[in-house]
Order: sequence, then C-alpha cells, then structure tokens
Amino acid sequence: MSILSGKKIVLGISGGIAAYKTTFLTRLLVKAGASVKVVLTPAARDFVTPLTLSTLSKNPVISSFTNEDDENDLWNNHVELGLWADLMIIAPATANTLSKMVTGNIDNLLLAVYSSAKCPVFFAPAMDLDMYKHPSTGYNFEKLACYGNYMIPAGEGELASGLSGVGRMAEPEEIISFIENQLHIEQPLHGKKCLITAGPTHESIDPVRFIGNHSTGKMGMALAHDLASRGAAVTLIMGPSNIIQEHVNITRIDVVSAQEMYDAVHKYISHQDVAIFSAAVADYRPANPAQQKIKKSSETLHIELIRNPDILGSVGMMQHKPFLVGFALETEKELENAFAKAKKKNTDLLILNSMNDAGAGFGTDTNKITIIDKAGKTLKFPVKSKQMVAKDIIDEIIKRTF
Ligand code: PMT
Repeated sequence: MSILSGKKIVLGISGGIAAYKTTFLTRLLVKAGASVKVVLTPAARDFVTPLTLSTLSKNPVISSFTNEDDENDLWNNHVELGLWADLMIIAPATANTLSKMVTGNIDNLLLAVYSSAKCPVFFAPAMDLDMYKHPSTGYNFEKLACYGNYMIPAGEGELASGLSGVGRMAEPEEIISFIENQLHIEQPLHGKKCLITAGPTHESIDPVRFIGNHSTGKMGMALAHDLASRGAAVTLIMGPSNIIQEHVNITRIDVVSAQEMYDAVHKYISHQDVAIFSAAVADYRPANPAQQKIKKSSETLHIELIRNPDILGSVGMMQHKPFLVGFALETEKELENAFAKAKKKNTDLLILNSMNDAGAGFGTDTNKITIIDKAGKTLKFPVKSKQMVAKDIIDEIIKRTF
C-alpha cells in the first residue's frame, strides 16, 4: 500500500506547458488512495481544463477566490483548503509562481492556499533551461528550501522551446516516488509493527448482564493514532468502545471478553516490534455464565468468579517478546504497586496512572503518567491531553528501541 493512501492532497497547478502532465499525476495520486483537490492558477486554465481534472480527481476544481457558478457557495476558502491538506504539491511550479512563493506576493488562489498551508509542500519546477539557470531562479530554489519546502528537481531533455537541457518537469511517476521516499524518511516507525490493547472487557453474567469497568478506549486510541501517524502498522485490539477513529495504518480487532482479547493478542503478537497494553482487563469472570436471564428469585445472589488469563504477563514470558509496555492503574501505594507489576510482568516500560490524580485515568480526555523503566528509573509528567500523553510515551519508546 502506498504511503499516500488516505492522504489529503492539494495539487496546485501553475501555467506552463508541463501542466498537461498533471492529468496523469492526478490519476496516479487517486490510484494511490489519496483524496485530491486541484487548484489552478488563472494561467493554468489555458493548458488544462477544470473538467478533465475534476473528473480525474472526483472533486471540484477551483481557480479563483469567488465561485460564480454556484450562488450558494460564492467564496472559495483558501485557509480551509490549506488546513485540510496533509500535503501540497505545486506542479508545474513556474518561475513566476516560485518567485511569488518566495516573496509572498499572493495574487491568486493557489498562492493563498500555499501560504495558508501548514503541511509539507513539494514543488516541481518546470521552465526553459535559461530561466532554470538564471541566478534569480537558483536564489528562489534556495529560499523555498529554507522555508521548509521540498523541491522535486526538474529533468533534462527536450524542452517546449525546442532547446535541450534542464527544465523539464519531473514525470508524474518520479514526483510520486520522490514524495513517497520523503514521507518514508520522515516516518520513524515506517516498517515497524505495533500491537495495542485498549478499552474495557465485558465478562458475561447472563445474556443481558456483564462485569465491566469504566475504560472508554480513549488512551489506547490516542496511542494507536500517534503510532500510525509516525508510520507504524498498528494492530489495535479493542474491547467494547464507542470510539471510532479510523486511520489507514490501523487494523482494528474488536473483542468483548478478556479471553477473546487474550486469543486475539496471541494470534497477532509474533513479529510485532512493540506491544502496548493499555486495556483495562477484568481479572475475573463468572465461572458459569447463565444461558438465560437470571430472575430475581432470592434476596442475595452469589456469582462464582474465576481468574482470567493475564495477557500482559503471558507476553512478558515469551522468549522473543516485543518491546513491552504495560499500564498500571492504581488507587493506593501507586509507585510500590507499579514497581511490583513491572517486575512481575517483565515490562520494558510501565505507565503508571493513578485514580487519585485529578484529570487522570478512566474516561477523561487527559491523563497524568509516570513512566517506569526496567532499571527502575521514573519519569514524571504533568496532566496533559491523552494525545500528548501518547506522544510522550511513543517518544520514549522510540528513544529506547529504534
Ligand atoms: O480507556 P480510557 O478511558 O482512556 O482509560 C485509560 C486507562 C485508565 C484504562 C489506561 O490509562 C490504563 O491505566 N490501563 C490499564 C488499566 C488496568 O487494568 O491496569 P491494571 O493495573 O489492572 O493492569 C496492569 C496491566 O496488565 C495493564 O497493562 C493491563 O492491560 C494488563 N492486564 C491486566 C489484567 C489481565 N488479565 N491482562 C492484562 O493484560
């Protein structure tokens, strides 16, 4: 699967003969699984038609700030489009467009989207060889690199002028593989496999009742998303949870009980580089769940409970275990209990969170953690959003593993 799959891409086309190649580029981006929105400069409309590009991209194509064709949607919001994009490609990038990108001369919609975008921007110059060699062009290339843009160098060959030399826009296939390579380099976990357990487990008492807990799956989902956005292939084994947040790198396996979670973990655990156990797993389950709904027949009801398998502990005992991260949710003697858990379950890192800390634990959008490593060293963090907590944990894992 291409790393471009699921990416939201703004393709900005400026007015040069190489614009004809962007029809192929659009087709390849869509084929790679990207959502593509095309912005044309007014000059680009002389080289390619909005109709062709909107048919290929399956999205409306825009080229001015106002949309005269649709009276209900008059304003094309450049800021919204810039923020929508995961990446922007400007191809062809003419000498004129490049110089305006450098100086901030925002005189068309493409340049307004470019200057609003917070995502990586790739540009593929195309111009005649003397323009390409001109010192001002070289200066602009350097400036744009300083601004953090990525240049996809032009190729050499016959140019539209009839001259031969450097200045041909890179072929669509070259543009795609340049961007794919760059994204791979920037994704430290590309090629790594990570397994996460998250959410609660439900242990059936009868067909309508269960023993459960207050875990929502927010912490585990934040971890899965952070890993996925850094390029890891994530297997998320999730107990019953309403949270739905998809990512192309996340394969979600829904389970209900601790036994199902155990089975799923052991189905997928081999070949994982990292495993993080953030699920709140029931330690016990009813020994004999009733086949029919239990009726109110006596004043008291006794349910015999038996131990569930310790999923984290079982992975800790594997001979070739992945880098293993466990959680500990404590209500008293936090550090003491967490140290004991880390040792017993053979974790490489243990993430302690305490129900005594405001903004920590079940259900909240925030958490407060202490990371305990194998040597017993502790790292304390303040209350942060679960997304930021996930980032802190993954940063720590990366520091220690890859
Ligand atoms: O889902 P949220 O609402 O966002 O809440 C997040 C959280 C509070 C659930 C999470 O941050 C957390 O602390 N998860 C672990 C909760 C827990 O059950 O801790 P524990 O101390 O009981 O378990 C220790 C470790 O063993 C955990 O990694 C747990 O996943 C694992 N375990 C426990 C029992 C069992 N039978 N199998 C296990 O794998």
